[in-house]
Amino acid sequence: MTARTIPVDLFDLVIFGATGDLAQRKLLPGLFHRDEQGQIPPGARIIGTSRRAMSDAEYRTLAETAIKSHVKDINAEKLGGFLSRLFYVAAEASKDEGWPKLDAKLGEDQSRIRVFYLAVGPDLFGPICERLGRHGMVTPKSRVVVEKPIGKDGASAEAINDAVGKVFKESSIYRIDHYLGKETVQNLMALRFANALFEPLWNSRFIDHVQITVAETLGVEGRAGYYDTAGALRDMVQNHILQLLCLVAMEPPTSLDADAVRDEKLKVLKALKPIQPERMDQFIVRGQYMAGASPEGPVPGYLDELGNAQSMTETFVALRCEVGTWRWNSVPFYLRTGKRLPSRVSEIVVEFKPVPHNIFGRAAGPVSQNRLVIRLQPDEGVKLWLMIKDPGPGGMRLAHVPLDMSFAQAFNVRNPDAYERLIMDVVRGNQTLFMRRDEVATAWKWIDPILDYWKTNAEPPRSYTAGTWGPAASVALIERDGNTWQESA
Ligand code: BG6
Repeated sequence: MTARTIPVDLFDLVIFGATGDLAQRKLLPGLFHRDEQGQIPPGARIIGTSRRAMSDAEYRTLAETAIKSHVKDINAEKLGGFLSRLFYVAAEASKDEGWPKLDAKLGEDQSRIRVFYLAVGPDLFGPICERLGRHGMVTPKSRVVVEKPIGKDGASAEAINDAVGKVFKESSIYRIDHYLGKETVQNLMALRFANALFEPLWNSRFIDHVQITVAETLGVEGRAGYYDTAGALRDMVQNHILQLLCLVAMEPPTSLDADAVRDEKLKVLKALKPIQPERMDQFIVRGQYMAGASPEGPVPGYLDELGNAQSMTETFVALRCEVGTWRWNSVPFYLRTGKRLPSRVSEIVVEFKPVPHNIFGRAAGPVSQNRLVIRLQPDEGVKLWLMIKDPGPGGMRLAHVPLDMSFAQAFNVRNPDAYERLIMDVVRGNQTLFMRRDEVATAWKWIDPILDYWKTNAEPPRSYTAGTWGPAASVALIERDGNTWQESA
């Protein structure tokens, strides 16, 4: 099966933070792929902007190096064509210099779509938007893309959203959560709402519990400065993991329209039961890695990497929560994420209830529960674990086997990176996979009391050795309910 590519309308894309890590690792390689696939129309331009003075030619060289280090098997002619779309204008968020040049570069043409991609820290979102407005660059077809983290708590998120909202209307603001652009995350919607099979079972009568794990083998790498002000709860749970939870738990939307989907996600966020202070220690475990091993060899602990022995920032968090609705009454959702865990794996496990009565007797072996495993990465795919008769003679013995749907093998296509898909959605004007302001605010409303509790309760995070599945308390958290983390389902 081949991937379909639908060309988009003519656009100019301005990348703020054009020389930064995100631009080099994700945005430029992603845009190159889209161009290579013929999706970007002739005449579309990508204009890099940052503080550094640089010519167009120098920016093209930087982009070429970035693309070559992130993309395999490059066609030189296609790369040349892509680089000729790139331009560069130096402008600083806090100074007026450079902005008239950027305005002149964009020109008078209001028929083109304009995308302003803010690949910079959130403290610059307001100042950049303000200058875009003041210099008259915001046309009716303009859109702004903002990266997470949007704030470090509810109040700071409101301030950022207010500043951006003064210049752009909500329908022009694209708050990226790149997990929503992952292939399997969208497949979760297809699985739930394009099949009649699961919906009747998708509730507390048949589902025992849900686990969402996003495990990384990497440490904080060169981002310790940012990471230490965030920690795993803000960096991963407030956005990526709660968004995944929403897609698992939401009611069927009436359509795939942006607001229809986002209304349903919002209801889930609103229905998340607050974790009461007296239950915090029981339902939430935070950890911090010590020296240990990664798949590449020995690695230092977080505090050594950071050079600050006092830091209480968590690099791991596991928690148990519930969605207070009829559908999910008393179904535990276990969420877990961490750095320096034994393998890089992100998956959602939906564990169904046991059969009500076992007719097979001891000799047949245990009757395990059905389990649907939605694997986001690596090896994207879906597995449905079923009980079958162990084939061959020897009487009735049962086996738990997966019905395996590995997308890479089944479709033989390169899955676009989440950023590729999401940038093209911005150009198309499709906000379905972007977070609305009220979603961000409601997610913070649930997270803020946890952060407050941690601030006032000075218990340090529990240590875990790099290369293990986090503190032992995380195992105890789920085993208290008689359940077990699925390490590699
Ligand atoms: C980012 C976090 O949003 O997501 C990082 O800030 C994390 O800390 C990354 O490593 C994980 O993304 P992915 O796509 O590699 O799973």
